[in-house]
Amino acid sequence: MKHIVVGITGASGSLLGSLLVESLLKEGHHVYLVVTPQGEQVLSYELETTYEAWISRFSGYGNLSLFSNDDLFAPMASGSFPADAMVVAPCSMGTLAKVASGIADNLLCRAADVSIKEKRPLILMVRETPLSSIHLENMLKLSRAGVTIFPPVPAYYNQPITMIESARQTVARVLQTIGITTEDMKIWGV
Ligand SMILES: Cc1cc2nc3c(=O)[nH]c(=O)nc-3n(C[C@H](O)[C@H](O)[C@H](O)COP(=O)(O)O)c2cc1C
Repeated sequence: MKHIVVGITGASGSLLGSLLVESLLKEGHHVYLVVTPQGEQVLSYELETTYEAWISRFSGYGNLSLFSNDDLFAPMASGSFPADAMVVAPCSMGTLAKVASGIADNLLCRAADVSIKEKRPLILMVRETPLSSIHLENMLKLSRAGVTIFPPVPAYYNQPITMIESARQTVARVLQTIGITTEDMKIWGV
């Protein structure tokens, strides 16, 4: 069982964060979840639910720990907490900029900052289009610091029919980068 910190921000693509949490819990990993206030609102809008109803979908799992973005006393705010990886899905340009600047004034950004300083895997599913030179420079800076910049660009070679199918493959690819293989992963040539 791995200990994975998951952050969800207010970028479009809450479905990705939702499928990521679901996959990790199903596979028996422990999820430490932090959602920004704007992330909660965008998720409610895009998934046509309330944040509370969405969270209750996972109530059957004993391996989900929820944290407020204000809670800088949470375990993952400290490098002493041995998380295996952190994934931000989706990651807004605002959060990207904060992380790239070392601003750690909320739990999500602090946990990302900790991942970088501890040299642990940090994957940012950055979502925006088109990208400005400011966005690109922030991504380059973080990539040079060892962060995986993983925009949720869909694959087509697996011939997805629905958006959910496509998103599942994207999430499976993200999980593959942190050594977790799921049944959704369609490996080319296999
Ligand atoms: C429906 C909706 C979709 C959005 N999509 C994006 C997006 O794809 N990328 C982005 O960077 N910001 C997007 N935003 C703007 C962010 O929500 C906003 O910049 C916010 O401050 C991000 O805060 P957070 O990173 O703390 O969640 C969107 C806002 C709304 C309401």
